[in-house]
Amino acid sequence: MKRIDELKELLRKYDTQYYEEGVSEISDAQYDRLYEEYVALEKEYPEYALIADSPTRRVGAGNQAGTTTGLPKITHKSPLLSIDKKAKEISELQDFYEKCGGNGTEVIIQPKLDGITCNINYENGILVNAATRGNGYIGDLITDNFKNTDTIYPDSLESFDLEVRGEAIIPFDYFKKHLMENYSNPRNAVAGIMRQIEPKDVKGKGVQVMFYDMGQTNVDISDKDSDNVKILKAFGFQIVPFVVASSWEELKACVESQLNGYIQQVEGFNVLMDASKEFPQAVCDGLVIKVNSKKLRDEIGMSEKGPKWAFAYKFKPLQEETRILRVVWQVGKSGRITPVAEFEEISLGGTKINRATLNNFDYMKQMDLQYNDTILVERSNDVIPRVVEVKAHNLLAEEDIQAKDSFRLPQVCPVCGSPIKELYPLHYCENPFCSAQIKGKITHYASRDAMNIVGLGEGIVDTLFENQLLSDIPSIYSLLEKREELEALPKFGKKKVDNLLKSIEKTKNPELWQFIYSLSIPEIGKKASKDLAQRFLSMQHFLSATFEELIEMEDFGEVMAQNIMDYISNSNVLKMIQTLMEQGVKPKEVEVHSSELKGKTFVITGTLANSRKFYQEIIEKKGGKCAGSVSKKTTAVLIGADAGSKETKARELVAKGEPIVLLESEEAIQAYFGVEY
Ligand code: IVH
Repeated sequence: MKRIDELKELLRKYDTQYYEEGVSEISDAQYDRLYEEYVALEKEYPEYALIADSPTRRVGAGNQAGTTTGLPKITHKSPLLSIDKKAKEISELQDFYEKCGGNGTEVIIQPKLDGITCNINYENGILVNAATRGNGYIGDLITDNFKNTDTIYPDSLESFDLEVRGEAIIPFDYFKKHLMENYSNPRNAVAGIMRQIEPKDVKGKGVQVMFYDMGQTNVDISDKDSDNVKILKAFGFQIVPFVVASSWEELKACVESQLNGYIQQVEGFNVLMDASKEFPQAVCDGLVIKVNSKKLRDEIGMSEKGPKWAFAYKFKPLQEETRILRVVWQVGKSGRITPVAEFEEISLGGTKINRATLNNFDYMKQMDLQYNDTILVERSNDVIPRVVEVKAHNLLAEEDIQAKDSFRLPQVCPVCGSPIKELYPLHYCENPFCSAQIKGKITHYASRDAMNIVGLGEGIVDTLFENQLLSDIPSIYSLLEKREELEALPKFGKKKVDNLLKSIEKTKNPELWQFIYSLSIPEIGKKASKDLAQRFLSMQHFLSATFEELIEMEDFGEVMAQNIMDYISNSNVLKMIQTLMEQGVKPKEVEVHSSELKGKTFVITGTLANSRKFYQEIIEKKGGKCAGSVSKKTTAVLIGADAGSKETKARELVAKGEPIVLLESEEAIQAYFGVEY
């Protein structure tokens, strides 16, 4: 039971990271192992399968996930399915093929592109919108972002209606040249870029969508999926390449040759390498095998979680065993202390490596990692290698005491010697003025998704720090008066300094969320920053937030709320923000779209047709507020299926004569708020 709960919590955490933030602390292969462990336990204890929040009951990351605040939402005309059947073993693929009919059955084989899924919608030949997959039913509307990508697609389509599905990717060669410094893989990069709120931020970033499927359409389509992909190509879409096989022998040969040699291992990534350059160098995490005939697909049908006629054959991660030598404790921008394993050099996918992340101390403990262990290191479509397993403990005749000691959690910060605090499962240096932290914080403040100061990357921050030109975040703005000192530095020409200072000047009027995100508050990423900006609307209100207000926000747990409280109650922080304001940094206030519902409080409970966030946005855009519990102050309660104590409480209060409105159907909700969806 304990492990089931643990796994549930972990899977939820990683789902949120993956689907909402476009980042992940663990590799896909590690995720799959946790998921498989959960599925096995659930099989053994089926009573848990009934629990509504079971990870196996959720499509993608569940109904609430998959969309980002700040972008409008759209309901797809037909849902975007995902593939539930997945495996790395060829025997399981053979099983699948036999179940679909075996020899004689045609299947279409395509690379499984590792990007983000998009749906582009044409009506009467005109491109009307583009959206992300979201939860499969509702996605983020990203029409202008899509139009700013480098995708090959037709501007118009005669008089056709067509939903066309594809994967937005960044080619590996482009990623390596331009984005590797900021992202650990192209998927994270494309997820971040495609969800930019400003469409211009998508331009020139190498993103392109490759298409593989049609949704709802009035195009005269064929029974064969492969023909329909050809139709897409004839229309002028960049398609995903495919191979058709009609026997197990052919299918096996195609899979074993990595799509007839199309997919190659390049520096730890599985890359679509097409000599004729017809296709971009998309990174793939496996192959998709689908029954080719639509008629046969209908006969085979669907299970609760997805089509039974599609299979994802996932590539095995690159793995190598080695011997761990010591642990190095790195201090990051938030003071977070991360253990990194140093080991005897190995070669993974052609690159030599001798270091890999160990995530956190708890992760080391759970693996029972000890000095001189034989470990398994893995790399799968990611720049960062990870230690994933301890293979054996080995005794050593003569021990290096210092190396052995490095396996223990340090008692003090390895950079500045200050005390360490634990925020389970992470450890932080307590000293906000630790040089590792300050440098990291300045670099983060200047980074692309934060204030975007071009020319203030890690190396330059180091140099300026060592030359006493930078000492904290406000000192970035003092650089505006230090042109001469800057120009005197080696490798700093007039032009370079000009550009840097211009870029600094441009950051003085940031969006509120951008500013909050730039501050490196522990565990407050982009999504949380956007939620905070929407909730508090101005810096002044954010700085006077209370713990209760924070914890009431959806997706804000106690740790996050406490981190924010610690941050905004720190007098040094307040001084720093005051200094920044004096230097002319003025975050914009968030515009509330109307004040129609000003002063009114709403409670959302039970399972409604859309996510909580969906309703919350409608309410907040009209100036209303959402609360976590029902009281006399509640204006109205949105009641979905299986609502519990909140519904009961609301009904009790209504019975006592309180003027609380009960909105018990979608129609009632739409009528009350004057919206249609
Ligand atoms: S077919 C029911 N084909 O992988 C089948 N999906 O779970 C619908 N993906 O997020 C999907 N490349 O966007 C298909 N060649 C390909 C694909 C592909 C990548 C993604 C898809 C979805 C996931 C499938």
